[in-house]
Amino acid sequence: MGKNNDKVCVLGMGFIGLTLAATLAEAGVKVLGVDVVEDVITTLKKKKIYFYEPGLERLLKKHAGRNLEFSLGIFDKSCNYYIICVGTPIDPDTNKPKLQYIESAAKSILPYLKKGDTVILRSTVPMGISRNFIARMIESDTGLKSGKDFFFGFVPERTVEGNALYEQKFIPQIVGALNKESAKKIDRLFSTFNRQLLHVPDIEHAELCKIIDNTYRDVTFAYANQMAMICEELGLDFNIIRQTCNNNYQRNNIPAASPGVGGACLTKDPYILVDLCKKLNIHAELIKSAREINETTVFHLAKKVLNRLTALGKNICASKIFIMGFAFKGEPETSDMRFSTTIDLVNYLKPFCSRLYGYDAAVNAESIEALGVRTSSIEEGFKEADVVIVMNSHKNHKNLNIKKLAKVAGNPLIFIDCWNLYNKQEIAKSGNIIYSSVGLY
Ligand SMILES: NC(=O)c1ccc[n+]([C@@H]2O[C@H](COP(=O)([O-])OP(=O)(O)OC[C@H]3O[C@@H](n4cnc5c(N)ncnc54)[C@H](O)[C@@H]3O)[C@@H](O)[C@H]2O)c1
Repeated sequence: MGKNNDKVCVLGMGFIGLTLAATLAEAGVKVLGVDVVEDVITTLKKKKIYFYEPGLERLLKKHAGRNLEFSLGIFDKSCNYYIICVGTPIDPDTNKPKLQYIESAAKSILPYLKKGDTVILRSTVPMGISRNFIARMIESDTGLKSGKDFFFGFVPERTVEGNALYEQKFIPQIVGALNKESAKKIDRLFSTFNRQLLHVPDIEHAELCKIIDNTYRDVTFAYANQMAMICEELGLDFNIIRQTCNNNYQRNNIPAASPGVGGACLTKDPYILVDLCKKLNIHAELIKSAREINETTVFHLAKKVLNRLTALGKNICASKIFIMGFAFKGEPETSDMRFSTTIDLVNYLKPFCSRLYGYDAAVNAESIEALGVRTSSIEEGFKEADVVIVMNSHKNHKNLNIKKLAKVAGNPLIFIDCWNLYNKQEIAKSGNIIYSSVGLY
């Protein structure tokens, strides 16, 4: 069968499933995108996207109704590939991974799976789940033998939201296949859009690659955030130290400090590793501490805001605080607010301050207002503001003339540049701005 005779069922039309489905369709593959939420399917059938991802709407308009179809379920046996892209959150009370979505997605395939078909897991899962839970369940419920009657593997998703369509094609795809035949089937499909397929010895290597990848990032960000906190206490500027350490010194790549680490992945994947360590009787202190630092940095920032207002003798309740950036990151641009640390900041400040204002170029106003924050333009937000906090590095926040904007702000204005986007010296020349960042008190 040539690649264009393949039909792929992608289960889960979230950030990951939809971008993969669109990429496959663009590569000339027939795709059925399945979700269990009616609104999602209705919206996609109208060729509309329900979250912001550059280029996605264009692909949807091009392929929907042609080689990209959407459905609330699987209704026939026409697909020969099934890719599971549903969510794998963690339980907020126990920090343990919740597997019910991949389980129900896998179960929904069973009546339609036939000899020769291929099942691929794309969702991030704890090590061992693909083989021992999903493949085994398929075998026992269908009587089909994995690696012989149906083919199986794990190909983790590593794209970054905001640049997903480019990265699907140009970052390496890690392939963990059950056996050689499974590897061939996976290669045939993924090579339709990506030339860098990295084969690892087995499924478990691929599963762990994904978790280790994201945990590494979380740990390095926590290192920066902890160093930033030390610098604040010492009255030093972490950003100067970081840049100096990294400058022309190849062995270092100390990341920038941040107002905490948000998003749906880095906030949970390290806990999947912690859970694994527990089973292995290994202390996971490094991973747990990193998470704790990244979860609490924003509260340190919130306390700093309140302390500074108090020190200036301002009435906190009557003070106007303007927050820029509600998506969990600014670059690449996304509308995704899941686990954004701005939400934690707002929830912390809300009981103290009744005048919270917000702006985000990518997030819709209703989502911000649902947090109890009034939305405004950047110019309006600065007007009479006692505090302005730039929470993410969205391109709209760069190149702003802060001195000019601050002319209509309260006097003095506490300006917190969490991503060091602006020239501190330049801003300091203006008498009415007290400049601060993460890593500079
Ligand atoms: N978002 C990212 O940037 C990213 C990056 C890499 C990996 N991942 C991983 O990819 C997976 C998916 O993440 P996401 O952000 O796309 O999640 P999401 O929550 O945006 O989307 C999941 C979708 O699956 C649907 N769904 C749930 N059960 C279903 C079922 N039985 N059948 C069909 N659809 C079903 C949901 O309705 C939802 O639309 C997760 O494991 C995540 O950790 C995400």
